[in-house]
Amino acid sequence: MSTEERVRTHFDADAARFDAIYDRRKGPVRWFVDDVWRGVVQKRFELTLDLLAPLEGKRVLDVGCGSGRYCIAFAQRGATKVVGIDYAPAMLELAEGHASEAGVSTACEFRQAEFPGGIEDGERFDHATAMGYFDYVADPVTHLERMHELTSGTIVASFPKSGDFRVPLRRLRFKLNGCPLFLYSRPAVEAVFRGAGIQSVELLDLGRDYVAVSRKR
Ligand SMILES: C[S@@+](CC[C@H](N)C(=O)[O-])C[C@H]1O[C@@H](n2cnc3c(N)ncnc32)[C@H](O)[C@@H]1O
Repeated sequence: MSTEERVRTHFDADAARFDAIYDRRKGPVRWFVDDVWRGVVQKRFELTLDLLAPLEGKRVLDVGCGSGRYCIAFAQRGATKVVGIDYAPAMLELAEGHASEAGVSTACEFRQAEFPGGIEDGERFDHATAMGYFDYVADPVTHLERMHELTSGTIVASFPKSGDFRVPLRRLRFKLNGCPLFLYSRPAVEAVFRGAGIQSVELLDLGRDYVAVSRKR
């Protein structure tokens, strides 16, 4: 199986568990595990919304959109066109359901595709995000380069740190699940941006992840 097939199989099976991290109604044990172990998921979500504000009238691309939590939040904040791309059907099914519940189905379009594919001819965006995505991508430069080509404003992307205390257990968990995991030092993230032709990037340290921000204007 290719890297892509293994990642897709993993997230197709794991969609509901991953999405539940965003659920605020949960018992104390689940809350503790999600907060200590996966607290970065919520932190990077709130940070991204702050970094991209204001979103009124914007077109946003969300690469590896998963269950659509970002897409929905962008649309709720006034983005007029949000395209979420993901290759795991179970994730997109959740995304469609959440968008419909939130009343933002018109602004959100979810596409089942393998990025860098899934983009229509001549399509362009103000902003692009890829959160919890580069953890699973073998060729990050090509993917970031495509995001850069498609975007006139800001790119926000997370990269899991190689030096975090959670790494050994996280590696083990992914190994047991048969899913590849790619980790980064600060210089490695900077090299990915340079490789993609982006000279200026700011790295914010969220503990488990770096959040990289690059603004064209
Ligand atoms: C950890 S989830 C993150 C979901 C969402 N961005 C979030 O943070 O809530 C990563 C997602 O990326 C998707 N993915 C990984 N590589 C992909 C690729 N090349 N094309 C499309 N989707 C991809 C997986 O299917 C998975 O749903």
